[in-house]
Amino acid sequence: MLVALLLWSSLHIANSDATALPTDEHGDYNGSDLIEWINSHPEGYVHPSLRIGRRIPGDSSSIIGTFVSSAPGAKPIEKDEVIATIPWDRMIGPGDEYSPTTFGSCQAIRNLASELKLGDNSQYAPYVRYLLTQSIEAMPGEWSKAGQMFLRQITADGELPPLDADWFEAAEYKNVWLNACRGSDDSIERLAYYLTSNRDEDTLMIPIYDMMNHSNDPDKLNTLSYKPNKVGDSFVFKASRRINPSEEIFNCYNRCHACSTHFREECETYSFRGTPDIFAHYGFVEEIPHYWWFDRNEGHQVTEIEFCLEKIAATGELSVSWINSTPGDHDKAFFVKHLERLKQIESNKEGLEGQLVQPDNENATSQEKMSRLEWEACWKYHNALITAIDAAIVSLNRIRRGNATAKLIVHDEYDIGDEL
Ligand SMILES: *[C@@H]1O[C@H](CO)[C@@H](O)[C@H](O)[C@H]1NC(C)=O
Ligand SMILES: *[C@@H]1O[C@H](CO)[C@@H](O)[C@H](O)[C@H]1NC(C)=O
Ligand SMILES: *[C@@H]1O[C@H](CO)[C@@H](O)[C@H](O)[C@H]1NC(C)=O
Ligand SMILES: *[C@@H]1O[C@H](CO)[C@@H](O)[C@H](O)[C@H]1NC(C)=O
Repeated sequence: MLVALLLWSSLHIANSDATALPTDEHGDYNGSDLIEWINSHPEGYVHPSLRIGRRIPGDSSSIIGTFVSSAPGAKPIEKDEVIATIPWDRMIGPGDEYSPTTFGSCQAIRNLASELKLGDNSQYAPYVRYLLTQSIEAMPGEWSKAGQMFLRQITADGELPPLDADWFEAAEYKNVWLNACRGSDDSIERLAYYLTSNRDEDTLMIPIYDMMNHSNDPDKLNTLSYKPNKVGDSFVFKASRRINPSEEIFNCYNRCHACSTHFREECETYSFRGTPDIFAHYGFVEEIPHYWWFDRNEGHQVTEIEFCLEKIAATGELSVSWINSTPGDHDKAFFVKHLERLKQIESNKEGLEGQLVQPDNENATSQEKMSRLEWEACWKYHNALITAIDAAIVSLNRIRRGNATAKLIVHDEYDIGDEL
């Protein structure tokens, strides 16, 4: 919380000096400065039908993202049309160190931190001003102590994913930024780290593109992106199907994971994250289809269990496809144990709420209570675990009874590379 407060106050100062962001008639950011800044570059282009704002303008509970405008006369964005071309010098990245096959870069985070510190004096000022308004408090690594301890209770101290090293006590921030990159622990550098962790495309921070929300639902996903092949090239994203007025424009943050239909084709990005990793890095549970992985630790031996969870459109039933091998009896016992444990936690939900959640009418005073946002995120993840584990057990039971054959996906080693 201390960090969050420090960050908040420093952003406050940065903002009061800075030019105000353009807003729609309801006071929500509309991105017109960014669009103008991209279009003012000879190679830059933003489709005239693109709208930045809330899903329902004026409704502060609806999410902020990118949409096709429904203003009178606005046209759909047709399949294969370019949604935006972002020139090289409108992106913040590792500079001359850029390579399309490098998936993480300390230099990129350092460059972003320098630009954020320059604020209005940055050559990327329209983008920097927007980035400075972003908050990191929804990221599990930045949650209150109470929120983090409760998520650890749900994951049985790391027996269930996500890995502690990806989030617990800001472990990844410390490992990557403070240790590997030798960064400093100040609020702007911390923001720069999390912004790259959340929003970059491999090593590039790309204005407008980074405002698209995530969907891995093949019926919703409607874009494809093309990274620069070399230093100096532009970044392009296109419509993968016709996108009608008022529809949301989505990106997929894990297009290339093991359950994706894009696997290997169209997979030029470092986006292999599974459902638990998406939760650890963004604080939300993605929609089904899911990719789940579990490491069952038995003494010094670790068994990897992986599966895809899909919904059968016709029946709404969940379907499990096992990756590489079908689990055995010990794996099933592991699932049964955790399912019971998770249900046990849920049976005391009300008691836990009183004990752990910051009352709405009280200001945050200690790390011993968590925000409502953290509480709700924990339960969404808890429910996702129950749904996935339950479906896994049902699938294994059917296979054991001989009433189903295992649906098995066999992948060769998929090397996710080294992030740094
Ligand atoms: C966005 O905000 C600016 C500044 O408030 C305003 O001039 C412009 O008309 C707005 N554009 C849209 C599409 O709402
Ligand atoms: C959608 O994207 C906006 C802009 O990047 C972000 O503020 C918001 O948290 C995202 N929502 C979800 C559900 O990911
Ligand atoms: C909470 O903080 C605000 C702003 O600092 C203050 O005005 C308000 O009185 C505080 N409320 C309580 C219940 O402490
Ligand atoms: C076997 O599977 C079929 C099709 O899903 C189902 O109709 C049937 O009831 C199942 N039988 C048993 C014994 O579970």
